[in-house]
Amino acid sequence: KDASTPVPLVGSIDQGTSSTRFLLFTAQGRIAASAQMEHTQIFPPEHVGRHEHDPIEIWQNTLTCMKNVIHAIQSDASYKLLSASEESNRIEGVIGLSIKAIGITNQRETTVAWNEVTGKPYYNAVVWDDLRTTEIAVDIAKAAGDGDKDCLRAKTGLPLASYFAGTKVNWLINNVAELQEDLKNPDKCSQVRFGTIDCWLVHQLTGSSSTADGANVGGLFVTDVTNASRWLLMDLETMQWDESLIKTVCSGSSNITPPLSSFPTIMSSSEVYGECAVDFGEPALEGIPISGILGDQQAALFGQGAFQAGEAKNTYGTGLFLMMNTGTTATPSTHGLLTTVGYRLGNDDPVYALEGSVSHSGSTIQWLRDQLQIIDSAPESETFARKVASNDGLYFVPAFAGLFAPYWRSDARACIVGMTASHNKNHICRAALESAAYQTKDVFDAIDKDSNVALKELRVDGGGTANSLLMQFQADMISVPVVKPVIKETTALGAAFAAGLATSVWSSKDEIKALWAEEERFMPTMDNAVKEKNLKGWKKAIQKSIGWEE
Ligand code: G3P
Repeated sequence: KDASTPVPLVGSIDQGTSSTRFLLFTAQGRIAASAQMEHTQIFPPEHVGRHEHDPIEIWQNTLTCMKNVIHAIQSDASYKLLSASEESNRIEGVIGLSIKAIGITNQRETTVAWNEVTGKPYYNAVVWDDLRTTEIAVDIAKAAGDGDKDCLRAKTGLPLASYFAGTKVNWLINNVAELQEDLKNPDKCSQVRFGTIDCWLVHQLTGSSSTADGANVGGLFVTDVTNASRWLLMDLETMQWDESLIKTVCSGSSNITPPLSSFPTIMSSSEVYGECAVDFGEPALEGIPISGILGDQQAALFGQGAFQAGEAKNTYGTGLFLMMNTGTTATPSTHGLLTTVGYRLGNDDPVYALEGSVSHSGSTIQWLRDQLQIIDSAPESETFARKVASNDGLYFVPAFAGLFAPYWRSDARACIVGMTASHNKNHICRAALESAAYQTKDVFDAIDKDSNVALKELRVDGGGTANSLLMQFQADMISVPVVKPVIKETTALGAAFAAGLATSVWSSKDEIKALWAEEERFMPTMDNAVKEKNLKGWKKAIQKSIGWEE
């Protein structure tokens, strides 16, 4: 150990739907230390389908995670904060503190509105899977395209759905009195800010004077192209906000169109946006460049080293998100996928992706634990599922928030079908796990049809990959190998890579790609007739779920 030569580290803030993490990575892409905090999931009981987060709580958790990691490293207790699974990545010799850059990755579409002068949010963050804007999306489709939910696809790559941030801006403008008043007031209109969580956190990290409740003012107001591509407001070709889209999507019944100045400047995913200005105490983090921003699914694509057109990854988190790099041309979808931005490095051409977004995967298992209470912990779902050899004809469609890709049916609701008196909780656990594989199969087929690229294997990441039963069943359903990398924290790592590329910690994508290594491969083994029978049952179950909510 040589204390005079600290190991260069890159920080990554991974702000997800259920928790916030801060991780420090070495130049070898290994975790030096990490900390994690869950935040409150607000489901207002009087409004079914609403889902909110407190932006101040998210910011304070981010700050606490950063402080915990930094103090642990500084006090030479670097590994205290590593979880058991990260312990296998334990490295020796991390001494001192030499953080070269910080990257941010985030739950996408979740929308915060705040006032630049007071620093205060006007309302809780409206989360990506919140259903309150379902009718708003229908109304926009009626007004802009005779009811066609795909009428903005050509420009934005997205269907009209409650999922996207622009519809949430519409709701906020039309339902939050103070925000509406400020937008109507010529003196205050320019103080209004709308941002996704990346934008909110950069603003906090680069701002200075704290208000009493912990919100900063005066920070940068920027986002990256991957996050900007999720609002229904960005033109995929120019990579800029489109004022006609802002009017179409955001105005609503009040007919107030927010000014362009209320939306963040769109930057690339990898460049120095600014420097940390927050007073962390000792050691000081002021001056560390913030130099990478990627929406979490794009960060996972980047962290998996999927830099070539035709390379793909599937992330099993709260939801599940299959994304394929399509190169420098935006590939339109006619099979229910999203055309989105994969990443853009500095002034390079943007790289596009096709994405199949599914709202419920890990959250289905959480539902078994918290609502149905038939398991005590997520891993128990595998234990119970393994007690039965098959689903015995029982299917679970977790359309709790309607069906996302490739169906986009907000009228769908969750259902368990095919039950007989001999089914028990083992079958329900099995069907819940299998639903992640069936949903992946649906978007896997859509990618094949939209892109004419038949994927030869599927790289996977996220919490669900710890479940071997699911991974094997996944390989059986898509009939190609499912491949797990050694480094599982691909989302956080992707943001660190973007930040480190802009600050010369890594010199090229090739250098990054060389750090990727395979840990485990699941080969398809299921008999074809059995597979087809399973898939047929799933298709029938999907039809039961669609149209339930008239
Ligand atoms: O689009 C929503 C997605 O970014 C959320 O990801 O991992 O926080 O559930 P996650």
